[in-house]
Amino acid sequence: MPGDTERGRSPDQKHTHSRQSSVWSIDLDIPKRTLLRRWSTKQWIAAFFALLFGTGLLSHMFLTRGYWPGAVEEETADMALPTGQTVVAHPVVLDKPRHHSAVLGSPTLQFRDNLRNDTRYMTSWLSAGFTNDVMTLGNLIYLARITNRVPVLPPLDSFIGKRPIAKPFSEIFDLPRLERALGMDVIEWKDVKDPKSEELDVLGCWNVFQVASMQATEPRFSRNAMFLKLDLSYTKAPPSVKLIPGFEHDSHSSFWSLAPLAFPDMRSKALQSMTVETAPSPWTSTSTLPDEQMLCFDYLFYICSDVPFEYDNDIYPSWQVVQKHFRWNAQVERVGQEYLRKLLNVAPGAPIPPHITIHARHGDFKDWCSSPDLQVCFASMHTFSRRVAEVQYELRQRRGISVRPEHVIVTSDEESEAWWDEVKAMGWLRIDHEKERTVERFGEWYPVIVDAYVQSAGLGFVGTDRSTFSTLARLRVRDWNDGAVRMVKWGKPDADEH
Ligand SMILES: *[C@@H]1O[C@H](CO)[C@@H](O)[C@H](O)[C@H]1NC(C)=O
Repeated sequence: MPGDTERGRSPDQKHTHSRQSSVWSIDLDIPKRTLLRRWSTKQWIAAFFALLFGTGLLSHMFLTRGYWPGAVEEETADMALPTGQTVVAHPVVLDKPRHHSAVLGSPTLQFRDNLRNDTRYMTSWLSAGFTNDVMTLGNLIYLARITNRVPVLPPLDSFIGKRPIAKPFSEIFDLPRLERALGMDVIEWKDVKDPKSEELDVLGCWNVFQVASMQATEPRFSRNAMFLKLDLSYTKAPPSVKLIPGFEHDSHSSFWSLAPLAFPDMRSKALQSMTVETAPSPWTSTSTLPDEQMLCFDYLFYICSDVPFEYDNDIYPSWQVVQKHFRWNAQVERVGQEYLRKLLNVAPGAPIPPHITIHARHGDFKDWCSSPDLQVCFASMHTFSRRVAEVQYELRQRRGISVRPEHVIVTSDEESEAWWDEVKAMGWLRIDHEKERTVERFGEWYPVIVDAYVQSAGLGFVGTDRSTFSTLARLRVRDWNDGAVRMVKWGKPDADEH
């Protein structure tokens, strides 16, 4: 095998060398009798890379400081589609943390040392797996927006069944682009507090979860606090944050029941009107009221503008205003396009033909099945194929685009090879992360990221009802690509009859 690789590579290497030397020899011929001429090819190459690095550094500064010209850009449907152009990854990955203008300087050992005295911030914690956590960050940013605060995003740190290494939002999504689209500052905890800091910060937070969720006996647990070395002291939020008073089967709050706590007068009014219950922090047993500058809520997944679980409704401002602008960063685009080209059998750099993605969520969804026969509970291949046909039909009618029947990609957490054999028999494609060695090549987050990317890049999407992973894919395909989307109902044999 190694021999094959070497043989495969050597012609390329030769080609690169000869091209480089011909370019350099032209340049070197011109400035005769100058110092430049004394430079060897090696020095030229070094200079070239230094220039590249410098350009990268400069653009990085522009991007991170928000000086990028053309403040707000329209996101057209075409931009979201794989155009076939090679996406250039950020040319330089700087080891140095960014200095964002919404903080005083480089990350500090204690977070307060880096806060601007003319700026108010808002933060919250994550606790429910990749997709729900992304939606939670959307809520945090929306709440910060309507209260004129700078959201401070905690890193993502879980997906279903796994507790991987915490991953900053900006390692998956294009944060500078989000800031430009929103016209506001959005920062991450790593911009504020040095991730390597061992110093503990005490922070007072509002405990919303225990008030809104009647079964809860404590604030929502999150690993973020430990990772960020924060010692949290929680004060129970006022009873007004529970959306449906006395209803034990719901845990929601509305944005506008929490927003008043972001303003000094309303905050004092709330505190005066209730019995203040503040719990001491776990490590230093400090009791402190919710912080006014770094406003903090335990958990913002269950937060809505109007009704619970509104992501299935037309009114979903967290998506329409914020999450719609969570576009993949260049690295995810590059890796995702690589997978798509391989699956759809097109050469590197060639245009990617339109595709339809299916998301068949199984896994823990079996806990919701009333019948022990999962064949009966989950949607069948036949059900999915009927929906795929609907999507193909709509795309032909509405967009005049025919998606080839072999360009249907199935994503699923199903582990049964018999089920995947059925997929193959349908003539559909599978992203086999074990075979592709996705984890080994790109890290433990990438199987889920690649699946989400592939779904989001399609012109059609057929998802699983009640799966938030499907929900975000549906919204991305609908709004980024002007695509056709369907959700398959499940739970009993005729669940998706329509
Ligand atoms: C706010 O910070 C600036 C410098 O960062 C300082 O000059 C100013 O005096 C501070 N204002 C207050 C009210 O502390």
